[in-house]
Formats: sequence, structure tokens, C-alpha cells
Amino acid sequence: MKKRSTSRAAPTRRARAKGPSAKPSRGQRGLAKANLPATGAEPLDIDANRRLLNRYRFVLHESLRLLTGWLPKAATFELKCEIGRTIWENALHVNALYLRLREIQSPAFQKPTDAALVTLMEELPNAPDEFALALGLYRVVTPSLIAALESHETATFPNSDLPSVYAIKHALLDLRARLARVEPLLEHAARTGKITPAALAWAEYISLLLTACGGVSGLGKRPEIPLVAPVGRAKFQAPREANRDERFSNLAADFSAMPDETDYAGHTVEEFERYSTEMLAAETVGLVMFLAPSMPWEFEFDSARHLYDEVRHCLMGYEWMRGHGMDPFKSPQYLHVFKWRSQFPPVMQYCLLTMGNEVHAFPYRHRRVEAHKESGDRLSEQFVRYDIADETQHVRFGKHWLPELLKQVGEKRSLEKYTADVLKVWESQYRTGKLTINVE
Ligand SMILES: [Fe+2]
Ligand SMILES: [Fe+2]
Repeated sequence: MKKRSTSRAAPTRRARAKGPSAKPSRGQRGLAKANLPATGAEPLDIDANRRLLNRYRFVLHESLRLLTGWLPKAATFELKCEIGRTIWENALHVNALYLRLREIQSPAFQKPTDAALVTLMEELPNAPDEFALALGLYRVVTPSLIAALESHETATFPNSDLPSVYAIKHALLDLRARLARVEPLLEHAARTGKITPAALAWAEYISLLLTACGGVSGLGKRPEIPLVAPVGRAKFQAPREANRDERFSNLAADFSAMPDETDYAGHTVEEFERYSTEMLAAETVGLVMFLAPSMPWEFEFDSARHLYDEVRHCLMGYEWMRGHGMDPFKSPQYLHVFKWRSQFPPVMQYCLLTMGNEVHAFPYRHRRVEAHKESGDRLSEQFVRYDIADETQHVRFGKHWLPELLKQVGEKRSLEKYTADVLKVWESQYRTGKLTINVE
């Protein structure tokens, strides 16, 4: 959609139609301004509006979904963190559009009828590598989404469609800030030779697919162009192993015994080093989301927050370690934990995480808050208390969604029996560190 001028509104057609002597009063002029786009152009009608909102929702939602699968696969730490943030922010934007769309169409979530747009989003995850994916998403698709939202913001009825404008304005804030964060990552990747010719060819291909659907808005020209996937295209498969970049030197260490809690300083170092490895939990939530696409939207919404909380806990560990002169890239990564969880069905992975790790962490975390208070370590105390607040929600999510996940897979055991059986595996393998990996 072409961006229109945002100069003062011209006298409206409705006002002029009142007749030659009907110079609009100040009150009428105010009313006209409130109801028509600032552009003075004919505003979007409600059917065009909902079709467009549905396209934005679809692009944000499909991006979120493909990124849940890519989160474990991406190796570069900063990009991985950004993927986590995109998943969470997109969930907020999809939710805002969902709340609006359900008022103007039923069902609220609809697959767009534009096959070219569907093809674009189906192709996006099949990137040859993580920087190809990032180029396609952040340099090709996201700028087109921003342009569509910018245009929509001023093209619709400013008052009648205010709830859409509100959602769009807030999404734009996040999307612009996202590109400002990602661009330096991409520039750094280019300078360090991480952007391969295959990635550039992929970005060009995504750009052609975007043109073929008239941009995210669908309102651009759609020239006949040959669409041939580049040779680097790799059909995306859900990963069963997590990747880390070359700065991480200790990928597969076993859990070592932590210094006793009576050794306050020694134990605290280990406590925050463990936080720095919580990316593993984010990666498991991502994989569960990716492998359970027919769960209700509210599950995706809660899980996107769960996922990004774990990225934040990981970053909290980084912040603490760096503040204490330590290098978090030297921390053991325990990648075999992700591999171990990944061999089980998604519902079991979710149960292991929420009913195993998360439910059982509270007595320890509360002891740590007291220990930090006693030693006057305000930073550590605050970090752990925020962590407890997040983890309380994660357990709530687990209790809420586990029954639904079990129902979807037709589990015959009761929730209690299923959880007890899974916890036996958790106790005997995770807690003991004797992880049995049966699937290679
Ligand atoms: Fe956590
Ligand atoms: Fe958690």
C-alpha cells in the first residue's frame, strides 16, 4: 500500500455534501477529523481492513511458529536471544490482532486465501542456515510488514477502527526497535564472513516470494516472476539437538556437584552459572510449541512468555557472571539435557520441565533468597526473587496445559498417574545425572 501524506485533513466529502451554505461548524470539523483518515483519502472499508489485519496476524504468527523450531538450531548466542524475544513479542502482537479480529470476523484466526502469501511463510523456515533465515525474516519480510502497518495506521477510520490503530501503533514500536537491534548483528555477521553466498541467494529468493504476494499487505504489484528455490534450500526439520556457537568451549559436561550451600561465595557462583545455561529450558519449550501446533492459541501465548522468560533467566546469569568478572561462554552447556528431553514426546518434555524441574525448584530458590539477604547481596536476592515470580507462572502454565496436551494425544492414564510416571523418569535419570539417550 502506498504511503499517503499525513498533512491536515482536507474538507471531507461528507461535510461538502451538506450543501453550498453548509460550511462545517467547528464541532462538525472536529467530528469529521475523528472519523476519517488524516490523509483525507477514502478510508479502508471494514472488509478490506479485516483481510489486511488477518495477513499481518498470519505473518507474525507463522514467524513465531517457525522460530520456535529454529531456536535450538540457531548457534549464535545473540541471534538466539533475539529469536526468543521475537517469539514473545510476536505472541503479544498476534494476541492484540486476535482480540481485534474476533470482533470483526469469525473465526478470528483464518488462513489467508492468498496462496502466494501462504507459500512465502511456508518457505521461510527452509533457509540454508541461521543467517539466511535472519536475512529473510528481518531484512525482507519485517520491513514489508512495517511498511504495511505504517500505511494501515493512517489509512483506516481513526475513530471507528481505533482498536486496530492502537494494536498497530504498539506493534510498530516493537518492530522498529527489533530491526534496530538485529541490524548490527547482521552487519557483524557479514564482517566476520558468516553470511554465505547461499544465505544471500536465499534472501533474494524470499524477496521474490514477497514480491509475488504483493508484499505483506498484498497491495503491491505482482509481476510474473520465475520462482525457483536456490540450491541451498534445506527443508526444515525440528532439531533434536541444540547448537551453540564457537565461543562456547564446554558443550557436554556432566552436572558436577555444586559447592555446599554453607559455602556461600562458592555456591553463589555456581548458582548463577547454572542460570546462564537456562537457554536449555527455552529450547525445550520452543520444541514443544513447534511439535504441538494444534494446541489452543492461549497455549502458544503462555508458552511464548515461558520461553522468553528462560532466555531472560539465561541472560540474568550472563549479567551476574560478567558483573563478577567471569566469562559465561566458558560455562558448561549441558547440551545432552536437551538431547535427552527431545527423545520423548512433546507432552512428556513439557511434563519433565514443568512438573520436574520447575515444581521442585522452589524450596531451594527460597533458601537462596534468604542466604543472599543475610549476606547483604542485594543483586543476587533481587535476581532470584524475579526468577521465583516467573517460575511460579511456569508451574501454573504446566498445571493448566498439561491436561490439554494429554487430551490431544489421547493419553489413557489419569493426569496424576501420567505425572507420577514421568517423575519416576525425571528422578531416576535427570536428578541422578544418568541421562539415558535412546534415540541417536
Ligand atoms: Fe528459569
Ligand atoms: Fe521456568
